Amino acid sequence: MTEPLRLGIAGLGTVGAGVVKIVRQKAELLEARCGRPITISAVCARNRVKDRGVALDSYDWEDDPVALAKRDDVDVFVELVGGSDGPAKAATEAALRAGKDVVTANKALLAHHGQDLAEAAEKSGAVLRFEAAVAGGIPVVKALTEGLAGNEITRVMGVMNGTCNYILTRMESAGLTYEQAFAEADGLGYLEADPNLDVGGIDAGHKLSLLAAIAFGTQVAFDAVELEGIGRVSIEDIRQAADMGYKVKLLGVCQMTGRGLEQRMSPCLVPATSPLGQLDGGTNMVVIEGDQVGQIVLRGAGAGEGPTASAVLGDVIDIARGTRLSTFGQPSTTLTKAKPAQTSTPAPYYLRLVLLDKPGALAKVAAVLGEAGVSINRMRQRSHDQDTAPVLIVTHKTTRAALDNALTAMVGTQVVEGEPVALRIEQV
Ligand code: HSE
Repeated sequence: MTEPLRLGIAGLGTVGAGVVKIVRQKAELLEARCGRPITISAVCARNRVKDRGVALDSYDWEDDPVALAKRDDVDVFVELVGGSDGPAKAATEAALRAGKDVVTANKALLAHHGQDLAEAAEKSGAVLRFEAAVAGGIPVVKALTEGLAGNEITRVMGVMNGTCNYILTRMESAGLTYEQAFAEADGLGYLEADPNLDVGGIDAGHKLSLLAAIAFGTQVAFDAVELEGIGRVSIEDIRQAADMGYKVKLLGVCQMTGRGLEQRMSPCLVPATSPLGQLDGGTNMVVIEGDQVGQIVLRGAGAGEGPTASAVLGDVIDIARGTRLSTFGQPSTTLTKAKPAQTSTPAPYYLRLVLLDKPGALAKVAAVLGEAGVSINRMRQRSHDQDTAPVLIVTHKTTRAALDNALTAMVGTQVVEGEPVALRIEQV
């Protein structure tokens, strides 16, 4: 019999327990596919007595993930602890220093320390893989690193946070307010312990920064991701967008431009008939565009026990088969430091303003837009309140800087009530 590949699993939450189940229940299948068995030597979690729905008594128990990572009978350290620093980082570094391969689902860790960890892995001849960190069960890291490696990637886009997509979908389909949809997602256990990771766009921003590194051969630059969460998206905007043939999505986009690397995670309008526009509920979608392949659309579960454990196993199986890939698809020392684009690619924008209903008000707004170089494509005014009128404007392509100038100048017109809403319309 060929030598088994021996795992040490740190973190026995939903995903960790899912990985243990697959290793136990699909042992024969895994062995047939890898040509060698996959076994578990030891596990580690905070709570030893908790019932995780799977037998753990045949594995050694470690209280300290660093000790687990350094064990002689562990070939692959599976890091499912989470968190950008603390025990997850210490144990991952210890494993790599000891020359052990690491499989992780930890997007925060890689978004903040990906370059250093990739370099540490290469220094000791280890591999560091992270399929489960991005879009759960969708094998997008593999798609970019392997299947599409013959392409120059032109753009990667995606809905990569199922919780936000669930909230936006429920606002649209059930007419819930943001607060009601948030409470519903919370009740279903969708939200991270720190909900701002989800609704603030941070979790999805982490994922986008990892895909950008692979797609463009650049060092992970999460700090350069332009981030905006979904907290300011209103039911009114979702309704108006739907009426004009759009859906509102928390959309991640990265592309290399003449102005530098653009990475954005923000609420955007996308055509309702596009694949991204049709993505409902807690599902994820990643759209990749390559110069040779054209557009690829990957859709699937972005979280949950089975899908995320499936992605972890994909990496473990690669290692068992002897496939040894660089963390970000090329040697880490060749990843370049990208200049962040200071401005985003021009796009049409959706604007919603509340105008005072008096003569010349609309003319003043149109003048301000014109002076900033922003051209109006479509405009609609309806359902007057007593003294105000909501106005919707879709602009022609413009820069965010020009739009911001116009929005600032609008305040000075004294005919706009409150803060105008501006949402980018992404050409997908
Ligand atoms: N909280 C994430 C989501 C899953 O809702 O998609 C983990 O990244």
